[in-house]
Amino acid sequence: MILAINDTAPVPTGFSADAHIELAEQHAAQTYAPLPVVVSSARGSWVTDVDGTRYLDCLAAYSAVNFGHSNPEILAAAREQLEKVTLVSRAFHHDQFGPFCAELSTLVGKEVVLPMNTGAEAVETGIKLARKWGYEVKGVPDGQANIVVAGGNFHGRTTTIISFSDDDSARAGFGPYTPGFRTVPYGDIGAATAAVDEHTVAVLVEPIQGEAGVIVPPADYLRRIRDLCTHHRVLFIADEIQSGLARTGTTLACEHFGVVPDVILLGKALGGGVVPVSAVLADADIMGVLRPGQHGSTFGGNALACAVGRSVVRMLSTGEFQERARVLGHHLQSRLRRLIGSGVTEVRGIGMWAGIDIDPSLGTGRTVCEGLMRHGVLAKDTHGSTLRLAPPLVIDQPEIDWAVDQLAAVLAELG
Ligand SMILES: Cc1ncc(COP(=O)(O)O)c(C=O)c1O
Repeated sequence: MILAINDTAPVPTGFSADAHIELAEQHAAQTYAPLPVVVSSARGSWVTDVDGTRYLDCLAAYSAVNFGHSNPEILAAAREQLEKVTLVSRAFHHDQFGPFCAELSTLVGKEVVLPMNTGAEAVETGIKLARKWGYEVKGVPDGQANIVVAGGNFHGRTTTIISFSDDDSARAGFGPYTPGFRTVPYGDIGAATAAVDEHTVAVLVEPIQGEAGVIVPPADYLRRIRDLCTHHRVLFIADEIQSGLARTGTTLACEHFGVVPDVILLGKALGGGVVPVSAVLADADIMGVLRPGQHGSTFGGNALACAVGRSVVRMLSTGEFQERARVLGHHLQSRLRRLIGSGVTEVRGIGMWAGIDIDPSLGTGRTVCEGLMRHGVLAKDTHGSTLRLAPPLVIDQPEIDWAVDQLAAVLAELG
C-alpha cells in the first residue's frame, strides 16, 4: 500500500518545474492547458515529477495506460522487438503482423483487422470503410452516403471528424466542413430512427461517451441501435477507443449491453501506453471492400506496434484486467456516490471509469483538479464542472480509497 507522497523518488537534477513549463509555453503550440505538473518518471499507478513529488494518476492518459505505467510485460515485449526490427512499412511483411492481427481478431471476435496508429485515424478509416461498403455493397448512389452520429460525441481532431462535432472549441474556425453526417441526440433512439434513410451507410457512436463526461446511455439504447442498423442494412460502428480494452470491466463496453457492432474501433490502450496503436475490426464481407492502394499508413501495423499490441492482447486474454476493473470499479463507484450531497451532484460510470459532476457553487472541474493535484492526485476536468476519473487498472483498493478521500478533502476545502 503506497499512500504517502514525496517519499521515495530521487530528485533529478536539471530544469525546475517552472523552467520546463516556461519552455513549453514559449516554444510549444498552446493547444492544451495542462495542470502545472512536470512528470519525469512513472510506474504502475504513480507518476513522479521533476522535483520528486509523487502523484496518483487517475487519468491514465485518457485510458491509454490501462495496464499501468511501465508495465513490465509490455516493456519486455517492446524492448525485445526494438532489438529486432521496428518498421519495414506495409510494402513488405514482417513476423509480428500476421500474429497480431490474428490474436486481436480472436480476442474481439471479428475476422479482419486493419491496424492504424491514432484513434482519429481509426475513426477516419471506419468512415471510409462504411462509405465504400455503402456504395459497393448496399448500392447507395456515388457521393450520397450519410452517417448518423450522436450529439456530444468525441471521435478525434481531424477536419472530417470535427465536422460532426457539436463542441464549438473543437469545430469553430476550421471549416469548410466535410458533409455527409447527421447528428442526433445521444441516447435518443427515436431521433436516430428518424435520421436513417436509404442512403445511410452507418451509425457511429461511442458505447459510453467519454469526453462528454462519461455518459452511459439508456440500458436498451445500443440494442435498439443494433436492431435499427440490422433492419435498414446500415453498419453499426462502435468507437471503443476509450471505452474498450477492459476499462469498463469487459473487453468491450458493448458487452454490457449485449450487442455486437459490425465495425469496432480500438486505440489508446492497444498501444500499452508505449506507442500509438489503433485498429479497425470487421468481418471479411465488410472489410473486403478495401483493396490495395485504397487505404494505408506508413506506420500502421509496424513491427514495434504489433509486438506491443500482442502483449496487450495477451494480458487481456486472461480476463484479469477486466475483472480488476469490474470489482475495483464497483468499489470506486460506490465510494464516489457517497460524496453526492457533499459537493458532488451526480456520479456516472461503469467499471473503473467515472464522471463526477461538481456542485458549480464550489468551483469548476478545473479548480477541483488543481486542488487534487495539491493533494497528490492527478485527474482531468471536462465541460466546466465535470471531473473524470480513469485510473490505471493496476490501482489497488487502498489507493482508490485514498484518492476518494483526497477528493472529499478538496471539496470540503472549497465548500
Ligand atoms: C472515443 C474516442 N475516439 C477517438 C479518440 C481520438 O483518439 P486519438 O487522440 O488517439 O486520435 C478519442 C480520444 O480521446 C476518443 O476518446
